[in-house]
Amino acid sequence: MSFRILGTGSSVPKKIVTNDDLCKIVDTSDEWITSRTGIKARYITEEETPLSLSYEAATKALKDAKVDAKDLDLIICATLSAEYQSPSLACLVQKELGAVCPAVDINAACTGFIYALDMADSYFKSGKCKKVLVVAFDALSKFVNWKDRSTCVLFGDGCGAVVLGEGKGLLHSQVHAQGDMSSLLIGDLGDGKPYIHMIGKEIYKFAVSTGSTEIPDAIEKAGLKQSDVDHVILHQANRRIMEAVAERLEIEKDKFAINIEEYGNTCSASIPLTLDKMNRNNLLKDGQIIVMTAFGGGLTSGTCVIEWNKGEK
Ligand code: ACO
Repeated sequence: MSFRILGTGSSVPKKIVTNDDLCKIVDTSDEWITSRTGIKARYITEEETPLSLSYEAATKALKDAKVDAKDLDLIICATLSAEYQSPSLACLVQKELGAVCPAVDINAACTGFIYALDMADSYFKSGKCKKVLVVAFDALSKFVNWKDRSTCVLFGDGCGAVVLGEGKGLLHSQVHAQGDMSSLLIGDLGDGKPYIHMIGKEIYKFAVSTGSTEIPDAIEKAGLKQSDVDHVILHQANRRIMEAVAERLEIEKDKFAINIEEYGNTCSASIPLTLDKMNRNNLLKDGQIIVMTAFGGGLTSGTCVIEWNKGEK
């Protein structure tokens, strides 16, 4: 027995930074950013902390799931922007929630949420867990070089969370890695700060080829056809990437969820943020098939095919 999603939650910082705001600090334009990426605005952390945003998303997910934090068997936080090297963000969330279970952070960059679900699957299958909280928090604004127009316009901060319980919601999951630091690296390359260094065109190609090969592969491994899919939640990195992937598949374009205009690329949070928004807008019905695919630093990628059966007793 694997898991089904019992509840979702999300949180974003208060401060909204629009494309016009960015035009005041770098040589760019709303027209360039919108036409190249689909992004209009992003939320940027000011007084919020990784813990405050994670706690907010987690409590909303627990409430939606009607699960008490004391009943959690495991907390996994997917993040590359935790506050401290140690304790992990997951341990801080565990304490704040009053949970008594093991807690661990994982880093798979933008694919972190999918890796966390894949890990959770093994815990459910081994019988070690009956309730798992997955929190995906990232604040890439912390690593943005605000003088580099080719990256600073892309990223935003946010957090998404899901509570998982035993069930038959997960139909298939797969994760991959191909170690590479030439096209995407977050670290100090002599600038004195751990900035984002990215060759956008390389990541773009990786994202389109990953999405268009992994999605049909995962659907087939789940024993389904592309026509069975109701929603695709692709990592929200660039509207053009999502459109290019959609063109290569036999899934109608309007089944691709898109919220990049409001959030930008929120790294590991992007898929659960989108899922939470869809859940709260009542767009998800029991029995629907959702494909979630992410790609990012590492390079990593992964896909989960789930049946939405949150309402099942
Ligand atoms: N405003 C105006 N001009 C800009 C800007 C900007 N913000 N940024 C770059 N330009 C210029 C460049 O300097 C270049 O000018 P030049 O031709 O005179 O040299 C021109 O625009 C074109 O730049 P390109 O890099 O070729 O633009 P491209 O069409 O490839 O779009 C983008 C760039 C949006 C970054 C795209 O490549 C992309 O989305 N890549 C994928 C990024 C991604 O998905 N990252 C996710 C992973 S992040 C993670 O895992 C942590």
